[in-house]
Amino acid sequence: MGTAKRQPWVVGVSGASGTPYAASVIRALLAAGEAVDLVVSRAARLTILDETGISFRDAHWRTDLAAWLGTDAGELDDVRYWSAGDFAAGPSSGSYPAKGMLVVPATTGAVAGIALGLSKDLLQRVASVTLKERRPLVVCVREAPLNGVTLKHLVELDAQGAVVLPASPGFYAGGSTVRELVDFVAGRVLDAVGVPHTLYRRWEGELGAAARDAAPPE
Ligand SMILES: Cc1cc2nc3c(=O)[nH]c(=O)nc-3n(C[C@H](O)[C@H](O)[C@H](O)COP(=O)(O)O)c2cc1C
Repeated sequence: MGTAKRQPWVVGVSGASGTPYAASVIRALLAAGEAVDLVVSRAARLTILDETGISFRDAHWRTDLAAWLGTDAGELDDVRYWSAGDFAAGPSSGSYPAKGMLVVPATTGAVAGIALGLSKDLLQRVASVTLKERRPLVVCVREAPLNGVTLKHLVELDAQGAVVLPASPGFYAGGSTVRELVDFVAGRVLDAVGVPHTLYRRWEGELGAAARDAAPPE
């Protein structure tokens, strides 16, 4: 028997505010022993720069990703990176053995492009491939407020089988730091595709637990 076939999750990072959500999802996938194929849209370079100070470069993606995740480049052996303009990339074909795709965070533009099947870049192409192959697709949209056309696109994505998961942290898990609230959203993204994690404390029917476990006010 040969070695087991690599079956990655594709993580698509588009240019919405919320790059910490993407970092948390990638870290948790790797911690769960999952392989990751990463696609970063052109606009996401601006949000990564704005929110982390890192200039994300195709040619130096491993170094830049390590800085973004706060990890060692040597711990990224299970990550493969594809340039957003590379329509010849592996995951752009349904025959590539991806498990599914997580778009985190998703812009309203990415939501539109995926809902309408535009495939304007690799991220949108892989999302369309994921839908046509009936693989799991999670779209973690980040915008507020939402206009009517985006709401229609989100309903269309739901109809096509995607999980629409707004970047909307819950407070019932007792989180009070930004990191805990970010990890809550990332944890719900992983829940949607059945990847185990310990990113947030699950609801167990105990009213008042959130207030009890919250950090005292400063
Ligand atoms: C700093 C910054 C923050 C942004 N935040 C959002 C956002 O939260 N949601 C959104 O839909 N677009 C946001 N945008 C606009 C998108 O980046 C823009 O519409 C872009 O065309 C999306 O392209 P993409 O879907 O290929 O990444 C932001 C842009 C910048 C520069």
